Parts: sequence; C-alpha cells; structure tokens
Amino acid sequence: MQFEVLAKCPTTRARVSRMRLHHGATMLPTFMPVATQAAIKGLTSQQVESLGVNLILNNTYHLNLRPGIDILKEIGGAHKFQGWSHNLLTDSGGFQLVSLSKFTKITEEGALFASPFTGQPTMLTPEESISIQHAIGADIIMQLDDVVSSLTVGPRVGEAMWRTIRWLDRCIEHHQKSGKAGVQNLFAIVQGGLDHDLRDQCLEEMIKRKDRVAGYAIGGLSGGEEKDVFWRIIKQCAEKLPEDRPRYSMGIGFAEDLLVCVALGVDMADCVFPTRTARFGVALTFGGPLNIKLSKYSTDMTPIDETCPCPTCAGGISKAILHHTATLETAGAHALTQHNIVFQARLMGGARDAIMNGTFPEYLKRFFADYFGDSG
Ligand code: GUN
Ligand code: ZN
Repeated sequence: MQFEVLAKCPTTRARVSRMRLHHGATMLPTFMPVATQAAIKGLTSQQVESLGVNLILNNTYHLNLRPGIDILKEIGGAHKFQGWSHNLLTDSGGFQLVSLSKFTKITEEGALFASPFTGQPTMLTPEESISIQHAIGADIIMQLDDVVSSLTVGPRVGEAMWRTIRWLDRCIEHHQKSGKAGVQNLFAIVQGGLDHDLRDQCLEEMIKRKDRVAGYAIGGLSGGEEKDVFWRIIKQCAEKLPEDRPRYSMGIGFAEDLLVCVALGVDMADCVFPTRTARFGVALTFGGPLNIKLSKYSTDMTPIDETCPCPTCAGGISKAILHHTATLETAGAHALTQHNIVFQARLMGGARDAIMNGTFPEYLKRFFADYFGDSG
C-alpha cells in the first residue's frame, strides 16, 4: 500500500490522503458501502461503480459460510466472483460472530460458534480468518479481534483488548508467512471499550507493530454509548495513531458522526446504515433524513434533492413514486439505495474538497446548520 497525506486542515485534525491499493487509488476520507454477501443489496457491481464508489466492504463471516472458501479459491477470489474491479476490504468475522450467531464462545484459540446452516460447532481462529481473507483476495484485510459490546463493563473489556493484541500477533505472523503481504494489506483493530487507559495500552502495543501493519481501525464503538464518550475515544485513538497510516472507524455511518470523525482525523468508515435505511424508505439529504413513507410525499412530484446527480434524482424519479413503491416494490428500495450511496459519497467528497480548499470549518458549520436546522 502507498499512503500519502495531501492536505491537512489547520484548525481540526481532518486530512485528505491518497491510498493506492492493488485495485487502484482511493481518495480519503471516504465512506465504504457494505456489500455483506458480495453484493450491495439490490445493486449490481456495475451500478455501484457508476455511482463513483471505488472501495466496498465484504464480510468474511458470510462469504465463508456461502459460497465458502473452496468455491472462492476455484473462482479466483471475491473480485471476480462479484465482477468488481475496484478496491475491496473484508472484515475479519469477529464482530459478525458476536452480533449474528446465537452461540459464540471465545477461547484463546479462537471463536467457537454454531454454524447457522448445520448447527455444527465451528472454530474461527485468527489464522483461519486470515486464510479465508486470502482466498477472498481483498485489498485490505482485518485482523480477527475479540469484540465486546461498547456497553460491557468489568474485566471482560480488558481481557478482550489483550486477546485482540495476541490475536493481532498471530494474524501478522500468518499473513507474513503467506507471501500475500505485498498485495493484501493487514489492518489492526484498536479495542479497549470506553476505558481510556485500556485504549492507551492497546494503542501503545499496536503502534509497536507498525512496521507490519498497513493501517489501523478503531473498533468496539457505536454500540449504544453516549455520543460524547464515542467522540472522546475516537479523538484519543486518532491523535495517537501514526500519521502515515490510514485510520478507519468501524461501523460508523450517520452523516453527523462521519464529519465529526473526519474532523478528529479519521480517514475511512463503513456502516450498513445508508443502504439499510433506504430499504426502510428513508432518503438521506443535506436537510436531514426524509421518511418517504410519510403521506405528505404521496403527491410530491419533485426529486429527493434537485442538486443530486444520482440516477434516481437526475433520472426524474419523484418523491411521489418513491412513496408509492418504497416498501411495495424492490425498484423503490433500489432507487433509494442508489441515492443514499451517492449522498454518503457527496458528503465525504465535499469534506475532501473543503479540506483541500481550506474551508473545512465552514463546511462543518454549513452541514450542521442545514442538517439539524429548521428548514421544514
Ligand atoms: N464492525 C463494527 N465494529 C467492529 C469491531 O469492533 N470489530 C470488527 N472486526 N468489526 C466491526
Ligand atoms: Zn439522489
């Protein structure tokens, strides 16, 4: 990976950078849409590409269950499988195991879980997670981490943080041995819950491994904690993480959170929120989210946003037809999904432009006034 900081905001920690990966360059800060099952629900890879997105996220947990590692190896990886020629990041499976599997037991060896198809006990070790991510072939791969809910307190938080460091060492070793380290880039995940000292200890240990780590994620957040606590942890981590490595806040997707994270020095984020909320009939706009299912939109013949270049708005699709089809017809959900992906891309593209032009504080002010203002 080549990572180059191009501009810095003088009054916040926001920065613009270019990350060159095996499938091209991606400008940061960026938002990565989530294609859990090797597809952004409802869209083809060609559609996603035409929206201007060039870095998406797949989940190791799901791709390992289906189609499985053997099929992925035979096909030649997830890029070919989904017809995606741009950059791809895979999450390691740890978070999905805890959030999706009924029964998951963490041991030092790995995470033991019941296969949702067969009920068979299955072990995911750090080494296996890396091997699966090698078969998937993502440009950025994540270490297996021991994830606890951000609301967990007590000794389990420290245990999970220290185990995440030991698992990082196992991931690093397995990755370096594989010969894939030149093409695929391993990121560490900072854990430690909402505890300042645990986060500091985790940062210190992970920064020691900087030469063998291409980037750093901040994990274990956005699980229902208070905003100010969330911001403090992001600030603490982003300040200490090395300048010359990308910083990725995991599971962050609300527009206001994205801009605060960018201001604190975050370069990348992902979340299912924009695409999931589209399927529930919500359109994201710079004036705040619109619930298209409200009856006031039933006769509104204007697009979601007159200035939006997405195929939905530019294609003349009205709020009235979206209101009619949003939850009835898959076409309505797809139209909203495309709009929301473009909204996230415009939000982050606007941040990059403002940082480059030296107007990022004004960009923030205007965003918050419009998004939370009383514009009706
Ligand atoms: N997605 C959201 N949060 C996390 C996290 O802490 N770890 C991993 N692996 N994925 C996440
Ligand atoms: Zn649009």
